[in-house]
Amino acid sequence: MAHLLSTGCYLKLSNGGVSYSTPSTQCSKVYPTSLTLRTSRSPLKKLISHGESSHRERPLRRCTVTATTLPISQEAQKTHPSSGFHNSPKESSKPKRVMVIGGDGYCGWATALHLSKQNYEVAIVDSLVRRFFDHQLGLDSLTPISSIHDRIRCWKSLTGKTIELYIGDICDFEFLTETFKSFEPDSVVHFGEQRSAPYSMIDRSRAVFTQNNNVIGTLNVLFAIKEYREECHLVKLGTMGEYGTPNIDIEEGYITITHNGRTDTLPYPKQASSFYHLSKVHDSNNIAFTCKAWGIRATDLNQGVVYGVRTDETEMHEDLCNRFDYDGVFGTALNRFCVQAAVGHPLTVYGKGGQTRGYLDIRDTVQCVELAIANPAQPGEFRVFNQFTEQFSVNDLAALVTKAGEKMGLDVRTISVPNPRVEAEEHYYNAKHTKLIELGLKPHILSDSLLDSLLNVAVQFKDRVDTKQIMPSVSWRKIGAKPKTVSA
Ligand SMILES: NC(=O)c1ccc[n+]([C@@H]2O[C@H](COP(=O)([O-])OP(=O)(O)OC[C@H]3O[C@@H](n4cnc5c(N)ncnc54)[C@H](O)[C@@H]3O)[C@@H](O)[C@H]2O)c1
Repeated sequence: MAHLLSTGCYLKLSNGGVSYSTPSTQCSKVYPTSLTLRTSRSPLKKLISHGESSHRERPLRRCTVTATTLPISQEAQKTHPSSGFHNSPKESSKPKRVMVIGGDGYCGWATALHLSKQNYEVAIVDSLVRRFFDHQLGLDSLTPISSIHDRIRCWKSLTGKTIELYIGDICDFEFLTETFKSFEPDSVVHFGEQRSAPYSMIDRSRAVFTQNNNVIGTLNVLFAIKEYREECHLVKLGTMGEYGTPNIDIEEGYITITHNGRTDTLPYPKQASSFYHLSKVHDSNNIAFTCKAWGIRATDLNQGVVYGVRTDETEMHEDLCNRFDYDGVFGTALNRFCVQAAVGHPLTVYGKGGQTRGYLDIRDTVQCVELAIANPAQPGEFRVFNQFTEQFSVNDLAALVTKAGEKMGLDVRTISVPNPRVEAEEHYYNAKHTKLIELGLKPHILSDSLLDSLLNVAVQFKDRVDTKQIMPSVSWRKIGAKPKTVSA
């Protein structure tokens, strides 16, 4: 398993031109088990040594909590996105420039194409590490996906639109700086993180990688904005998982609390349940702090679980096809269930199946991001939107897939498997999600026809399914310091 890859240069591909260059002040960043990418020196150790805080016992006091959210500045004046042009008359003929970090991934690819179609000038920044995780763990997307270079060439040949491409790791600040200076973004959409909770719980090295990659990457983006594009709006993908499953309604980012006769509006409490989710909480805190301290303008999109594979743009050609993960590490619940139904594997409900979360269609992810860009946060504002459209329990999803599968003549069964995660299996869940609707989001609700089409995709590619990847293989309780290797 232990073969070392070293990729010490980065590639900029834009307008048909290809140039290679090698960052200078670099050290090795060790990727879990087998990959070494050369990046700039990591400041993580220094940070950790300053990270301890003292805990003092506090007397128990009575609190009352009122459910409210902070007013958001764009409520008075919202912009319906119809094109990627600047709002101010002075700049109205200039398209907005959007840097999509993580633009080769599931949400990022669909978003980059959608924004390009809407006449934004788009650049993708991606280290391609997600494709490497697949090689590392022996996984593959259900749908065949083309290389990022072929994807971008195909888009250009179909639409005449150029998407710039910067291949590199945003943890390498020198690389990120060059992309900022070269592309000069008006908005940065940041999808570029290790996004799987199970991946972060495989072993110590994956936990450390996840937090290093996500927290340092986001910190670098914040510094790049401060140093090189202070007007730039950061749209950062967070997750609904940051909130956990409290026994009260979940608000959009903030909650007003009256405690011992005094009232304040405070960040909504976070109760993350994996090293991945914790990395997102750390990101949110760093972004909130820099909005206050440096006047950064930011929108944190606390996204629910995304399902679906097709958007108007990815439908245009097979080389534009998006990835579709169904395995126990990267697959999300509904996508996983559709593939299981297609290959005749019982739907794997973890534990009691009452785990309830917010969900959304990938077509709504791209809409939400565009709405956030078109209605930017004000300088110094840290805005939080809960980005999902419907709530389902795992049992609800299994029932919906069973019904849709039976309609197609599939024999769908459900089994309960021991829950590999540490989470409540039956709980209260009611999360607000009105801010994006107020901005104009038109949700795609999970309908019979959508489920049919998802199942059809799963059936179409069922010969590509590796059934060994279906069962969960990562346990929250069994994670250890010893590197976990994958054998053939
Ligand atoms: N997919 C979901 O259901 C879901 C739900 C909630 C939140 N999110 C968030 O949305 C974002 C995108 O998720 P996704 O499903 O598209 O993930 P993905 O893994 O498919 O895509 C992430 C992309 O970022 C790139 N990347 C990772 N680290 C990088 C780095 N240091 N430098 C440059 N590129 C890097 C990867 O190569 C990959 O192409 C993530 O931040 C995730 O936490 C996703």
